[in-house]
Amino acid sequence: MNLVKKIIIGGVGLAAILGAGFLAATQHGEIAPQSGIAVQDFSAQQIANGKTLVAMGDCAVCHTAKGGAENAGGFPMPSPFGTIYSTNITPDPETGIGRWSYEAFERAMRHGIDREGRHLYPAFPYTAFTRVTDTDMHDIYAYLMTQPAVKSHNPETALGFPFNIRRGIAVWNWMNLTPGPVADIASQTPEWNRGAYIAEGLGHCSACHSPRDAFAGEKKGSFHFAGGSAEGWDAPALTSATAAPVPWTSEDLLQYFRTGVSERHGVAAGPMAPVAHGLAHLPEEDLQALTSYILSHKNATAEPVDAQALVRKADTAQAVPADAQGLRLYQGACMSCHSSDPQGQLAASSFGSRPQLALNTNMHAQSPNNAVRAVLEGIQAPAHADLGTMPSFRHAMSDTQIAELLNTLRSQYGLPEWADLKQTVAKLRAETDPANAHH
Ligand code: HEC
Ligand code: HEC
Ligand code: HEC
Repeated sequence: MNLVKKIIIGGVGLAAILGAGFLAATQHGEIAPQSGIAVQDFSAQQIANGKTLVAMGDCAVCHTAKGGAENAGGFPMPSPFGTIYSTNITPDPETGIGRWSYEAFERAMRHGIDREGRHLYPAFPYTAFTRVTDTDMHDIYAYLMTQPAVKSHNPETALGFPFNIRRGIAVWNWMNLTPGPVADIASQTPEWNRGAYIAEGLGHCSACHSPRDAFAGEKKGSFHFAGGSAEGWDAPALTSATAAPVPWTSEDLLQYFRTGVSERHGVAAGPMAPVAHGLAHLPEEDLQALTSYILSHKNATAEPVDAQALVRKADTAQAVPADAQGLRLYQGACMSCHSSDPQGQLAASSFGSRPQLALNTNMHAQSPNNAVRAVLEGIQAPAHADLGTMPSFRHAMSDTQIAELLNTLRSQYGLPEWADLKQTVAKLRAETDPANAHH
């Protein structure tokens, strides 16, 4: 008998012994379907607040399929074990949550258990949503239940064994879920506490911005916000581990959250675009609070950097030969949109956002991932339409050319070249090929 077989059989034996207890401990009953939810009892104020909270929680980003009705589900989230599809959270009684009592809704949001008692996959960020207060939870429910009911039969999530055994998520929850709202920290300001509530709760910032352990749990402590990933993009560190050449100030963060762009850093593209789109709906005090909380994860004593001087330096440095192939490619393909004006002014352009690449976190990052993705795919869905789009260079440039271009810019900015960049471009080209798309 080979070793693997032994282990599996031993495991099954052990599970048989422990199984009864495990199954009992993780058993959740069905919450009876309710008909005739009294939507007339929800106040206009509740529904309006719920609408803002739903924007804060990006519900529609994950619960809306491409071209589908808002929140009707069917949005695919690929995982190494198969595709997880979001569900219909409109109040359709048959295919949505129309028969979910508040109690059932609250259990899903705080414990990751659906109305029938099944565990939900943590692709649904209930480990963050669990912190939502009772009042806010009621308001989210009020908003969702008063939206148009949409009938939508979405594809079933069918992961491979053993991930198809939803009960296994109970073990994951035991390690990663602390259910329920969290008390304010008395030594912090009310503003900071409000920011923590937004970021750690509905904002679920750490779902993307924290690295994950071997079991896909968010790493905590000093790893919190230290940089993670989302949909193939790198979500940069929000801590002092940031690669941003200019330290983020509170004005920078506020501008970024409000408009989707910081002229001293860059834009909220990729998976951050819909997040920034949602944040723009928040009242100004909430954005201030979020800013002050995020900023508290950075080193307050960071030296200020003159961003304009940095751009001027990048423009005038003769770090690479004037006739370098990469510089020519830049001048031909990128400069018309990305160059600074001769004074190195970071002028808020009236025509789109035109991020200064010399200041862009992605150009300074350890990994070329986001920069390469932006060039290959372009940016078709900016956070706000007025930021402008960027064309895809997939068909205009070879792997060698893209590598040459980006590494020349790195040299021009005084940064080491990215190693094996051509191979990385080739790999990302295959990964981002529209023909290989999951959906
Ligand atoms: C990052 C993506 C993501 C976001 C953001 C998200 N959800 Fe979900 N949600 C999912 C996925 C995926 C599922 C299905 C999980 C499964 O099938 O195990 C789900 C399931 C649910 C369910 C269970 C419904 C059912 O029929 O079983 C509810 C309720 C829900 N989400 C509400 C919300 C609300 C409210 C928000 C916003 C505050 C939200 N979700 C934001 C991904 C997301
Ligand atoms: C779905 C994943 C996701 C979520 C959720 C998310 N982010 Fe991001 N974030 C990203 C990605 C990816 C980028 C890189 C975007 C780019 O460079 O265009 C980013 C970029 C940023 C940046 C700019 C960093 C830099 O140095 O350029 C800030 C600031 C930021 N996010 C803050 C937040 C905050 C605050 C939240 C929660 C309210 C949040 N993010 C939630 C994925 C996410
Ligand atoms: C037609 C104008 C245009 C051209 C040409 C162009 N870009 Fe862009 N680029 C933009 C715009 C606009 C954005 C910001 C989009 C947004 O708001 O999300 C952007 C964003 C980017 C970003 C992402 C910044 C971030 O913070 O996420 C990178 C990197 C980038 N461009 C690199 C390049 C390179 C390299 C080239 C040349 C191969 C190039 N661009 C050509 C308009 C352009």
